Amino acid sequence: MSSTKTIGVLTSGGDCAGLNAVIRAVVTRAILGYGWRVLGIHQGTQGLLKRPVEFTPLDLQTATSSMARSAGTILGTTNRGDPFAFPMPDGTKKDRSEEVIEGYRMLGLDGLIAIGGDGSMAILRHLAQQGNIPLVGVPKTIDNDVGATENSVGYHTAVMVATEAIDRLQPTAASHDRVMILEVMGRDCGHIALAAGIAGGADVILIPEIPYDLDAVAAHIKKVRHHGHNFAIVVVAEAVRDKSGERVQLSHALGGTTYGGIGHVLGEAITRRTGAETRVTVLGHVQRGGQPTWDDRLVGSAFGVYAVDLIAQGKFDRLVAWQNRRVVDVPLVAAFEPTQAIGADDALVSTARGLGICLGDR
Ligand code: F6P
Repeated sequence: MSSTKTIGVLTSGGDCAGLNAVIRAVVTRAILGYGWRVLGIHQGTQGLLKRPVEFTPLDLQTATSSMARSAGTILGTTNRGDPFAFPMPDGTKKDRSEEVIEGYRMLGLDGLIAIGGDGSMAILRHLAQQGNIPLVGVPKTIDNDVGATENSVGYHTAVMVATEAIDRLQPTAASHDRVMILEVMGRDCGHIALAAGIAGGADVILIPEIPYDLDAVAAHIKKVRHHGHNFAIVVVAEAVRDKSGERVQLSHALGGTTYGGIGHVLGEAITRRTGAETRVTVLGHVQRGGQPTWDDRLVGSAFGVYAVDLIAQGKFDRLVAWQNRRVVDVPLVAAFEPTQAIGADDALVSTARGLGICLGDR
């Protein structure tokens, strides 16, 4: 390899706040630190499937500080279109991985930085192994479920948005003597619900890792409303399951399912059991958009710089991670084997219980 390299960067999976901070750090470090060229690949691996391959050369005029504070991803992204099982117009699935690898080769890259969640990392690592692509991963997701890292880019902003929603729901709940239910995202993990619920002062927090019992939830709400305040705040993660293991999912007309809808199911059930008036807020994608918080910009910037340095050192198949207030790198496989769920011994579980918050199990 020559000392002047060209590297690629892409964003993959659901967007979140802070992606542009990572891209800006990658571009700045690569150009200022090493004199390299950086190509931004469009729409995750989809850009590599297009002919001609879809990308934009990124320079210091693009990679400004205002980019670091901007929402979304300037490169576009997708959480559909796994190249190993690509959905074709006739409804079949096709393995198009070799086309993606060919697209990568066409760009003449010396390395690839992929900013993605656990699902994207599994797919990209598979591609990298098949195509011998020098790959470094940067974790991002509001769900904060990427393994081996305390923080993924986007998580803090989502928690801030959810906390602010609770702050806004509390006065209207109190004014009307209502039980307010806030449904938050997070897929199979309850990180957003638990953190925002504690920070916002929720009475009940339901997370996928702790199956809930409606009788326990109803009993707690009755207790709160009789002996505490006249209202109650319930934060529920979208993928919670009751003791029978059932979850609520939405099917979409274009195909596929997502979690969502548990808030309304719960609202009715709580009214029936407690007699309380309930109202439901489904926070949805506002958790992913908007300006990144200072810490998502910070973590994103630190990750971007470190990822470029890993390429400079010839260290590939690595995931950049945040551990004990430091940026480190771990084997890329750690991103998804296993993903990071909330354990029974999690410090925030003890905090919630210590604050008298009902977690649905007792
Ligand atoms: O993984 C991020 C996430 O926002 C999840 O919390 C949520 O379940 C899912 O993506 C929603 O996906 P979509 O953007 O396809 O609706």
